[in-house]
Amino acid sequence: MNIHTDMGDPPGITVPDKRGKTVEVCLFHPADRGPLLRFYEDFQPKNDAQGLPPSHPIRIRQWINSILAGGLHLIARRDGELIGHAFVVPTDEPGIGEYAIFLREDTRGFGVGTALNRIAVDAARDMGWQGLWLTVEPKNRSAVRSYENAGFRFVRKTVFWRDAEMRLDLQQQTKT
Ligand SMILES: CC(C)(COP(=O)(O)OP(=O)(O)OC[C@H]1O[C@@H](n2cnc3c(N)ncnc32)[C@H](O)[C@@H]1OP(=O)(O)O)[C@@H](O)C(=O)NCCC(=O)NCCS
Repeated sequence: MNIHTDMGDPPGITVPDKRGKTVEVCLFHPADRGPLLRFYEDFQPKNDAQGLPPSHPIRIRQWINSILAGGLHLIARRDGELIGHAFVVPTDEPGIGEYAIFLREDTRGFGVGTALNRIAVDAARDMGWQGLWLTVEPKNRSAVRSYENAGFRFVRKTVFWRDAEMRLDLQQQTKT
């Protein structure tokens, strides 16, 4: 399922969650900045995914400013409210982006994360990214499964690691 990744004001993609509620996924638009800040200010629990999102509003603003400076950002909405953000930001490895996703607490566990990951992967490939990379705590089962559903695989994992690394080669992987 592909979102239009060219410039302009592209239409979003709609996907049903497991309860039949419709979720709309769009590319980030500058008008989304305010709602995105409020989304992360209200986000619970804070600091839970490798210390993200930050807990203090000033730190949230700094973090958002830094990640919005580049990459690919997708916004998910339900009933007109911003309920999710998935993004790919550049790394120091050419063509490789770091991926992350955050959903509002009451919308988790209904397939939205998996759907948004798949849309983000297809959009990243369309934009010319060669691969995606992320870190995740193996105990974050819904995150790990949602990433695996979209094609990510563990690079290395030992029981001694708090964070594990997952990667996805966008050139080899076929659409999810
Ligand atoms: C991680 C996150 C994006 C996953 O999205 P989601 O919509 O909740 O996940 P999905 O409903 O698509 O479920 C994905 C898989 O996890 C399973 N799952 C969902 N909730 C689960 C839970 N609480 N415990 C174990 N497995 C769970 C689902 O059954 C599904 O597995 P399956 O495909 O084998 O059936 C979302 O939970 C979230 O935003 N969490 C907080 C932020 C976060 O941790 N981000 C990741 C940072 S690395």
